[in-house]
Amino acid sequence: MRKKIVAGNWKMNTTVAEGIQLTKEILLETNRIPKGVDLVIAPPFTHLFPVSRLLENQKAVSLAAQNCAEEPGGAFTGEVSATMLASVPCEYVIVGHSERRTYYQENDRVLLSKINQVLANGMSLIFCVGERLEDREKDMHFQVVASQLREVICPLDPADYQRVIIAYEPVWAIGTGKTASADQAQEMHEFIRSFLAQTFAEAAQVTPILYGGSCKPSNAKELFSCPDIDGGLIGGASLTADDFLAIASSFA
Ligand code: 13P
Repeated sequence: MRKKIVAGNWKMNTTVAEGIQLTKEILLETNRIPKGVDLVIAPPFTHLFPVSRLLENQKAVSLAAQNCAEEPGGAFTGEVSATMLASVPCEYVIVGHSERRTYYQENDRVLLSKINQVLANGMSLIFCVGERLEDREKDMHFQVVASQLREVICPLDPADYQRVIIAYEPVWAIGTGKTASADQAQEMHEFIRSFLAQTFAEAAQVTPILYGGSCKPSNAKELFSCPDIDGGLIGGASLTADDFLAIASSFA
């Protein structure tokens, strides 16, 4: 049985007060969420500690960070280490988001260092992969995603791999309102699972693979009914408790 996960990536949105309010609204309604679905929220760094206090003494919602430093600590002004995030405590860290790959030039070497920091500090990883529109138009989407996995996920220790969640986020679908069709998403999720199974055998059969990219209440049901889609990594729609909870209630 694979875990079902719906994670909200708040990106660079909300003030601390708004983030606290949003968290409270989500917590008030977690009884709407079907059994066996885990909710994760990834607020900005500034919100993590106050939000973590709200999440104490409950299990329905877990906390994720959106990024972490590749270095363990020291003179790196402005960076936030995985050790600091684990001390909040955060349970997950998102690594490899296309916005970080594109705007901050995070390459496979940087991503692997970050992943090693996350895992060494006992947290789990939400690792994002996905092709750009031009890759898909050239029919290169499987090759691009395979390479993103080959360089940073396949080298992991099989024991650490248990703490890996994959998020397939086609870059052309992020924040554009253009969602991958259920068939396109399922085809890629199936590919990712079989690709990972070449390295991690049976473990890959239970790896949660989330879909991200303009996922909203109106399309979540169709996406989540696909056999290899285990939930979603939600951007814009995770900023409203109602939409986020509606998406999380969309499993058949
Ligand atoms: P949107 O849901 O806003 O398209 O963002 C998806 C995403 O990037 C989640 O990480």
